[in-house]
Amino acid sequence: MLSCRGSDNDPRSCGEMINNDRLWNNLMTLGEIGKHPDGGITRLAFTKEDRYAISVVGALMKEAGLAVREDEVGNLIGRREGENPNAPAVLIGSHLDSVFNGGIFDGSLGVLAGIEVLQSMKEHGISTKHPIEVCVFRDEEGCRFNFSLLGSRGMAGTLQSENLGYKDNDGISLAEAMSGCGMNPEGFSRAARRSDDVLAYLELHVEQGKVLECANLPIGIVTGIASSLRLMVTVIGKADHAGATPMNLRFDALTAAALIIGVVEKEARATQSAVGTVGQIHAYPGGINIIPEKVEFTVDLRDVSAEVGQQLEIKILSQAKDICDQRGLTLQVDILQRVPPAPCSPEIINILADSCRELGITELQMPSGAGHDAMQMVNLCPIGMIFIRSQNGISHHPAEWSTPEDCAMGAQVLYQAVLKLAK
Ligand code: GLV
Ligand code: MN
Ligand code: MN
Repeated sequence: MLSCRGSDNDPRSCGEMINNDRLWNNLMTLGEIGKHPDGGITRLAFTKEDRYAISVVGALMKEAGLAVREDEVGNLIGRREGENPNAPAVLIGSHLDSVFNGGIFDGSLGVLAGIEVLQSMKEHGISTKHPIEVCVFRDEEGCRFNFSLLGSRGMAGTLQSENLGYKDNDGISLAEAMSGCGMNPEGFSRAARRSDDVLAYLELHVEQGKVLECANLPIGIVTGIASSLRLMVTVIGKADHAGATPMNLRFDALTAAALIIGVVEKEARATQSAVGTVGQIHAYPGGINIIPEKVEFTVDLRDVSAEVGQQLEIKILSQAKDICDQRGLTLQVDILQRVPPAPCSPEIINILADSCRELGITELQMPSGAGHDAMQMVNLCPIGMIFIRSQNGISHHPAEWSTPEDCAMGAQVLYQAVLKLAK
């Protein structure tokens, strides 16, 4: 378990500690919501599982003495006033929604650690000059509507009204899903905060990769977050008889899609840094003996360098066009989202490094390949992120796991850093 350097076995001798067991128990309790028999969870945004998780966390916020409200895009916000209520607030946040059959740490750790920090401050009788808020951002994953970071976009003022028309696989729009939760989607712009109202944003998250584990280190300090480009690619050919149509007379949309998917992999690999994923594909009409007429698939491209990301996109799309032209097919590309890379604040990186030093923790500074709400919050204020080690680097999978010790260590680093920022 976490202890402080030179602490004579009394970890409290170097400052106040968070309650490790409470944090872990809350994580395990929350991990039951939306749970599958294999241990994974599905809590898609604006579903009953999502709403239930939010209500459970709202109760924890109240226990921690926070004033709780839900904003116009469905973010749950718990606020603790500062000695100067007009001072800009320090925000801590993450999300409770999940991917399809995901893990129990992704998002939940950051939310629960934020509440644990404030619960511990209350118990230790600590007051701060700045107000502190814990934010549960709605629909970070963007799995349901293929559009991520909804809540943090709303708070950062980057959400557009057309985004609310995006539909899920059942044809339900984001606006309809919000209304179904008793919200008024038309009022979304009122969720935007003023930048002079927010001092800084901090997020604790599982790494979701193998870098920390390979380095045998528990804690990472994030230097910046990779860009996120999400595309919906549609290839249109002609349906025909699978037996009666010779190979040279076909307009097969799926064979072209397969070649384009190969290009995504080849070009992303060639950059050495970018990643490219096709995670969803639908072929129509979808009969074993019918040549596919239309194929829709998603492309997810990321890189920490905007320049590399841009070049990758150009290379993939020009080859996709050539493939379709050569086969007499039509190519359509819709941009679902484009989020630039988000640099973390050097001042906050220093504060996090100082916090690690105080706790006797050796940290690793590293970029984040995964997306986070901090990518939107950067439009509002300086951001900082703490990573903890992920077992076997697995995430977006039921086997996602981090140890209680690493979770506690990450939350304690968060505690120290919040104190330094909020004073
Ligand atoms: C969310 O975790 C993402 O990076 O897509
Ligand atoms: Mn996450
Ligand atoms: Mn995730």
